[in-house]
Amino acid sequence: MKAVKGTRDILPPASDVWIRVEAVAREVFRTFNYHEIRTPIFEETALFARSVGEDTDIVGKEMYTWEDRDGTSLTLRPEATASVMRAYIEHRLDQIPGIKKFYYIGPMFRRERPQKGRYRQFYQIGAEAIGSESPIVDAEVIEMVVELLNRAGLTGFHLILNSVGCSTCRPKFMAALKEKLAGIAPKLCEDCQRRATTNPLRVLDCKVPDDQAAIDTLPSILDHLCEDCHAHFRVVQEHLGERGIAFEIRPRLVRGLDYYMRTTFEITHGALGAQNAVLGGGRYDGLAESLGSRVPAPGIGFSIGEDRLVMSVEETHPGAHEPAVDVFLAPLGDVAEKHAGALAAELRAAGVSVERSVDRKLKRALETANKMGARFALIIGDNEIAAGTYLMKDMASGDQVSLSREALAAHIQKN
Ligand code: HAM
Repeated sequence: MKAVKGTRDILPPASDVWIRVEAVAREVFRTFNYHEIRTPIFEETALFARSVGEDTDIVGKEMYTWEDRDGTSLTLRPEATASVMRAYIEHRLDQIPGIKKFYYIGPMFRRERPQKGRYRQFYQIGAEAIGSESPIVDAEVIEMVVELLNRAGLTGFHLILNSVGCSTCRPKFMAALKEKLAGIAPKLCEDCQRRATTNPLRVLDCKVPDDQAAIDTLPSILDHLCEDCHAHFRVVQEHLGERGIAFEIRPRLVRGLDYYMRTTFEITHGALGAQNAVLGGGRYDGLAESLGSRVPAPGIGFSIGEDRLVMSVEETHPGAHEPAVDVFLAPLGDVAEKHAGALAAELRAAGVSVERSVDRKLKRALETANKMGARFALIIGDNEIAAGTYLMKDMASGDQVSLSREALAAHIQKN
């Protein structure tokens, strides 16, 4: 049997890179005072239909939805912002003072056509800051994700930024967009012709080369922002500039989910090709109300595609996997095998990773150590036990040193 199309196993040593990226993320989140939220993998279908939007590709054709035994329609989460907001409303988190800052790491499910960097089960590392409309929060959220990518070792990424306006200015923009679209839609691709009526904003996101010239003639949202949205967007840019964060404003960046308002952003990376973003995010000030909350809960967040981040990091630093194990113990005989057990426990307690050979032939044991990529091999025979000193072999250089029992852990950690 094989893994289902669009899903995959993440095997060691690649999984070591995943763990390292997640550890970096958790550390960055901690320093920005974000705390982990764990929401269920499945929710009622209505949650995603209402938040992500009925007319989006995600809700229209990519969700894994089934009817539970009691007739409830359930869906594997295609994203997590809706679930975080559902939890925020359900647990009345608005009553806790201050901005509530959450992060999550976990699998999401979308039935997309699998290709490089696109899976049906994929993983996101995301964060949401709920409870403030301030543009300073927008800039800080973006600063945090840039810091995360830097610390994960990603270089050469590109931040693109836009504002998609609010309920005051967007309807006027939409009217202008629809009017202009009516004239050019018949010349556009099939998807765009459909979107021109169902979700005109998404036409701006079309990637079909032949459509680009016509789409470039459509009105720009940035020319239609109301005064408040304009001022909000200006402050976001000022704060990013202040922090030395480079960005490009792209008025056609509209994102594929309906809940966005004002700031939207994506980060792209050369390793992924132009169509695939490493991450996407934005502000969603009206989302709580659309889920039935009487209390407003303005928020902003992002989700990193972890599969894509890991792939980009690996392409930037090939072979950056962690070494498999620090030390490989090679005991020669019955007594040495038991002694190796005690040594392994001591070394592990000191934080060293240890593998024990179950092969008594020294040559074969050393071959195994080599194949595993062990940094050191420790040979344990009767003479070593009697003398209380051991021969430690550096597997890369082949050098051997004789060390006392007490000095073993320090030597491994120092080198
Ligand atoms: P999204 O743009 O739909 O936004 O997804 C965010 C990221 O998830 C993408 O940029 C991409 O890296 C990754 N991703 C999406 N689909 C796939 C796939 N099929 N395979 C691999 N990676 C994928 C959201 O999900 C929003 N919840 C982001 C957000 C949070 N906005 C506000 N807060």
